[in-house]
Amino acid sequence: MTENMTIALIGGGRIGEALLGGLVAAGHAPERLVVAEPHAGRGAELTERYGVRTVTAIAEAVDGAGLVVIAVKPDVVASVLPDVAGALGDGAVVASVAAGVPTPTYEAALPAGTPVVRVMPNTAMLVGRSMSGISGGRDAGEAHVALVRGIMEAVGQTLVVPESKLDALTALSGSGPAYAFLVAEAMIDAGVDLGLTRDQATTLATHTIAGAGALMVETSSSPVELRAAVTSPGGTTAAAIRTLEKNGLRPAFYEATRACAERSAELGKRS
Ligand SMILES: NC(=O)c1ccc[n+]([C@@H]2O[C@H](COP(=O)([O-])OP(=O)(O)OC[C@H]3O[C@@H](n4cnc5c(N)ncnc54)[C@H](OP(=O)(O)O)[C@@H]3O)[C@@H](O)[C@H]2O)c1
Repeated sequence: MTENMTIALIGGGRIGEALLGGLVAAGHAPERLVVAEPHAGRGAELTERYGVRTVTAIAEAVDGAGLVVIAVKPDVVASVLPDVAGALGDGAVVASVAAGVPTPTYEAALPAGTPVVRVMPNTAMLVGRSMSGISGGRDAGEAHVALVRGIMEAVGQTLVVPESKLDALTALSGSGPAYAFLVAEAMIDAGVDLGLTRDQATTLATHTIAGAGALMVETSSSPVELRAAVTSPGGTTAAAIRTLEKNGLRPAFYEATRACAERSAELGKRS
């Protein structure tokens, strides 16, 4: 669907590069990818790594593109939109991965009727394992959302949700990797407390979490079934789970995700 489409990427930072790498690896022709990046040195680096064209002027990248993906920091979005708007061709779709900036912000700055699709990826995009939420704005039809979904599948899984659910999605998948990192940290400290070296505890905790993640996505079993399968009656895991539950693991997640969603909504209102 996108093979013959030129994709312009505004911002060649970490997320921009991850998307670029994913698209090239998925077979998108590098000559149909163009990146607007203010630092010529960084642009040269991207050209060398992926064979894509890089420019410093946004208008030059946007001119002729069928899809424009905005990958700058949220507080930079407003300043790039006039240049995008000025060069956008008829029928071009605008997608953005900027956290928390709602579609009406783009719609107000772009030519009337421009389809806008918002994407909330997560940091696992850097290793091609993002869990990305996707929402179409007012003028985005199913085909526009499907187009952006196809692009994001080059760097992981996708889930289409109404924009009203993006704050909740942010609380699960957007910020979620940090919860897993925090659990890993806590396990490592606990392992050191039990007499393991920090290196040993780090190896054990990180690979255990990665292995559990693989089981959840690579088998058809639910987390509940997987946990039941390793929790023998009166056994070691049951003792640990009882202690985690007693110490409020579940209520902590209810409260943490609510705080995250509320903060996400608050930041969105300011954009
Ligand atoms: N990292 C994550 O896990 C994650 C998760 C979800 C969403 N996101 C979103 O993804 C977006 C990008 O994040 P990131 O981590 O990739 O940030 P980043 O590494 O700072 O990348 C942003 C890039 O945009 C460039 N830029 C700044 N002004 C520009 C302009 N006027 N025209 C073109 N390019 C410009 C920056 O150049 P300079 O360095 O010169 O400023 C930088 O290379 C953010 O909006 C963030 O909210 C990130």
